[in-house]
Amino acid sequence: MGKVFEKINICELELKNRLMMSAMVTNYCTEKGEVTDRLLSYHRERSMGGIGLIETEAAYVHPSGKGYVNQLGIYDDRFIEGLGRLVHHMKEGGARAMVQLYHAGRRTSKSMTGFNVFAPSAISCYMGNKAPRGFIIADHSGDTIPKEMSRDDISQMVEAYRLAAGRAMKAGFDAISIHAGHGYLVSSFISPFTNKRHDEYGIDDQGRYRFLFEILKAVRSEVGNRPILVKINAEDFIPGGISLEESQVMAPHIERAGADAIIVSAGTVGPATETYPLNRPSYTFLRTLPMCTPRGCYV
Ligand SMILES: Cc1cc2nc3c(=O)[nH]c(=O)nc-3n(C[C@H](O)[C@H](O)[C@H](O)COP(=O)(O)O)c2cc1C
Repeated sequence: MGKVFEKINICELELKNRLMMSAMVTNYCTEKGEVTDRLLSYHRERSMGGIGLIETEAAYVHPSGKGYVNQLGIYDDRFIEGLGRLVHHMKEGGARAMVQLYHAGRRTSKSMTGFNVFAPSAISCYMGNKAPRGFIIADHSGDTIPKEMSRDDISQMVEAYRLAAGRAMKAGFDAISIHAGHGYLVSSFISPFTNKRHDEYGIDDQGRYRFLFEILKAVRSEVGNRPILVKINAEDFIPGGISLEESQVMAPHIERAGADAIIVSAGTVGPATETYPLNRPSYTFLRTLPMCTPRGCYV
């Protein structure tokens, strides 16, 4: 336990202790993804609390990747100034600042983003139910059917991650994390449950990991020797998804592809046909986001 308060390095980045605040969507941003005073003070308070490393909430790298109404955006250069202020607040208490790069993939809707829903394969995960305010808006079916990404779509998305990483560096972040878990875009390429492609981005494990590896390479070209962390699902908790056995083999591949550390998480969005007891209000959200996640499995 004593070690928790000892310094540690991730590459050349020194952290004053081993406590990391995990990414959590706050819904404190504007609808376009801009930083607000509320987000600034939220992060400043966390920093003053003494944490070693703060990870922002998932920041969407492309407007089609917004998954929550008031989520943080990093898809345009105009965000750099606000993100710079965010970094300043995150570091005020001596914490280091890391931004999480993300694309919602199939976990969003056209009515939310105004764009096609992008995924490796055209497998929907929502059933068009209303979700609580601030979360997914998917009021009619068809709104959430993903477009199977073409090679051009994939290249554009890799480029969006590269550009976002460049913005993060300009804003002053110390590290980058790539969200490759929870059924979002990168995760849906990795998982055989959602990736049914027959080209070089599917078929076998190396195919399913290719999108992440291309993102890692692109992000590395922007960040130099700053740390890149990758958040993975150790378990999807669905039949045909990522298993603990596979993730143990996958992790060293991710390290060789350029990750400096791996954040281990679990749980994904399950089959659209899954049913939950809808007579209890608390299950409405679950029905809309059937996260296959037993209690207590997040780490
Ligand atoms: C409200 C909320 C928002 C979250 N948002 C994100 C996110 O933006 N990115 C992410 O990688 N994980 C997100 N997570 C998962 C957390 O980062 C983390 O993995 C999980 O909560 C583990 O901690 P716990 O077991 O102490 O809850 C979120 C969790 C919660 C509760």
